[in-house]
Amino acid sequence: MSFVSIEEMKKQGLFIDNVRAQIEGKGLKACVFTLGCQQNEADSERMRGILKSLGYEITYKEDEADLLLVNTCAIREHAERRALSIVGRYKHYKTKNPDLIIGVCGCMTAQEHRIEHFKHSYHYVDFVFGTGTMYRLPEYVSNALNKGKRLFTIDPQAPEIAEGIPVVRESNYKAWVSIMYGCNNFCTYCIVPYVRGRERSRKMSDILEEIRGLASEGYHDITLLGQNVNSYGKDLEGSPTIADLLNEIAKIDGDFLIHLMTSHPKDASDKMIEALKNNPHCANCFHLPLQSGSDAILKKMNRHYDTERYLSIIDKLRENREDMVLTTDIIVGFPGETDEDFEKTIEIIKKVKYDSIFSFIYSRRKGTPADKMEDHISEEIKHKRYDRLCEVQNEIAHELNAKYMGKILRVLVDGKSKNNESVYTSRTEGGKIVHFESDKDYTGQFITLKISRTDTFALYGEIYKD
Ligand code: SAH
Ligand code: SF4
Ligand code: F3S
Repeated sequence: MSFVSIEEMKKQGLFIDNVRAQIEGKGLKACVFTLGCQQNEADSERMRGILKSLGYEITYKEDEADLLLVNTCAIREHAERRALSIVGRYKHYKTKNPDLIIGVCGCMTAQEHRIEHFKHSYHYVDFVFGTGTMYRLPEYVSNALNKGKRLFTIDPQAPEIAEGIPVVRESNYKAWVSIMYGCNNFCTYCIVPYVRGRERSRKMSDILEEIRGLASEGYHDITLLGQNVNSYGKDLEGSPTIADLLNEIAKIDGDFLIHLMTSHPKDASDKMIEALKNNPHCANCFHLPLQSGSDAILKKMNRHYDTERYLSIIDKLRENREDMVLTTDIIVGFPGETDEDFEKTIEIIKKVKYDSIFSFIYSRRKGTPADKMEDHISEEIKHKRYDRLCEVQNEIAHELNAKYMGKILRVLVDGKSKNNESVYTSRTEGGKIVHFESDKDYTGQFITLKISRTDTFALYGEIYKD
């Protein structure tokens, strides 16, 4: 694995010094708007870290920012359309404040045709870069401040890892820790390998140091991030595995839970499942994307497992802990998906009984093999299948949630509910949402609740005192 060179980081250091000197005392603010998954959330926290080191105050309010950065997602057409509409909206801020700096980055702008689009159709955007050149943000900002030419960077083929970037975390009790970047799997529908490059694992010592730091700062919830965390370490010296990493994390003191996001079934080893079982920090939940219940479709998706293998992993996870909360991702309407194929997905959903599923309507992605396949499914059929899937899952979720009635559970409090001032939202160890009323604010703390009501989407509880 190669890392961004010391010379390059020194060069960025000089840009940091320049920008700091230029904006000092001006009270300038920077805002990063994030679309997409947790990987992007984590990247945005690192970009906020860089912007803070440049001397900007970090804000989450777009309308008071002197620098706006949009971190985009390319996973489905809808995500790309949202990014275009947000950047479109920012034109009005630039008209009001001509000194405003606007940058666009992330997965969408790791595609050349998108860079061209921003270059030619969004003249008020100062710089655009992909996912592999984030460490050059000081250079982009310095250039924009000095009214240099607009900058558009195409990601290098094999982006390197830049360690040591400061992080401004949004939460003081929940944290993302990237353990690897990129993806080697090339599922035929997916854009990620094209926009995030090949798999690069961070060194185990760097990851452990970060987690030790978080544990000592009192973080309670840590998610290990990677597109396929089960293949962690293959590119590192000595080839450490995700099991080795989990076993080392088990030795770290602190009251924190570990989640994995995401595990690919093809690489889910017995050793990894064993490591989860023996780790006091590992939460009793597991997200294992299925994508489709039809072996023929899984093959066309290039997923490298069949339903038999998938179900055997689910059995092993449940052997670990009977109360394991299971979740999955499903795509409906992949090219060539017949009614029979779709019914097979429904069968597995009913068989496994997931606590929740993330279901997606297949979206054509330019440059992926599936886009060139024949037999694309009509929008009408895709939507019908999607609705049916949601209906079946809602029934299962309702039934599973009902089993929580009367239970006493430890939850981590997430904050006030959006709709009601005295109602708080929290999550169980397995990630289920529990609402409760309280006069006192326990945000960021573990508390114990007794479940007094359940429905399809959430549990409701009361503070439990014994
Ligand atoms: N690396 C993770 C998934 C990352 S993307 C994994 O392999 O599990 C998150 C989810 O988006 C995927 O699991 C898939 O269900 C969905 N997805 C990816 N590409 C898609 C597309 N073109 N159309 C619809 N859904 C898609
Ligand atoms: Fe996409 Fe497949 Fe990689 Fe997940 S494993 S990011 S679905 S290519
Ligand atoms: Fe994530 Fe979207 Fe990129 S889902 S990896 S932000 S394409």
